[in-house]
Amino acid sequence: MNENVFNNMANNYDNDDRKQLSDIIRLEISKYIPGDCSNSILLDYGGGTGLVSLPIAEKFKNVIIADTSKSMLEVALSKINSGNIFNASVSLVDDTILLPSADIVIISLVLIHIPNIEAILKKIYEILKPNGKIIIVDFDKNEKVNHPKLHNGFQHKELKSILEKEEFKNITIENFYSANNLFMKEDATLFIAQAEK
Ligand SMILES: C[S@@+](CC[C@H](N)C(=O)[O-])C[C@H]1O[C@@H](n2cnc3c(N)ncnc32)[C@H](O)[C@@H]1O
Repeated sequence: MNENVFNNMANNYDNDDRKQLSDIIRLEISKYIPGDCSNSILLDYGGGTGLVSLPIAEKFKNVIIADTSKSMLEVALSKINSGNIFNASVSLVDDTILLPSADIVIISLVLIHIPNIEAILKKIYEILKPNGKIIIVDFDKNEKVNHPKLHNGFQHKELKSILEKEEFKNITIENFYSANNLFMKEDATLFIAQAEK
């Protein structure tokens, strides 16, 4: 959803605040990524301009940035080309398109934009390789946020039970960062959830 919003903001998406936040998110995600990923495929679902995944692309065999916004992917592709990142590509997705199979899927600041999170988590479970891993970063539930096209964050318990229903195992969910004006101009806390197929 919200494809137009991201199409409109793509060329200005990589501002200083978002770069700083994506550095914090990438550092946290890196703690959950195995040491040797040289044979692994990373799918950055809702990866946008590649802020989170492109700086660590060299660790992986392949990185695929999948997104519903063509304009966000154009920015990602121009970074891939100008940075000579030969193992990264972009993929325009919608509800009907089969996602590529992956060893690790990261989904950073995307779930809040997706109305049916059960459906996307099920789809990700299906394309994960055996013992593959999903790493989710998003906002804790925040009652002060109220937007018709966004979830106002997630409760850990609620997300854990959805992941369990989709048959993910070894689920952990932890907070790692809080700041002022982080989520729709409200103070907010980020969590990282990880689970295995
Ligand atoms: C807030 S941005 C986050 C971008 C990136 N993951 C990051 O952390 O920098 C949300 C991204 O999710 C994408 N998106 C929204 N709904 C989506 C969906 N249903 N499937 C895939 N991508 C989606 C948007 O186009 C946008 O690029």
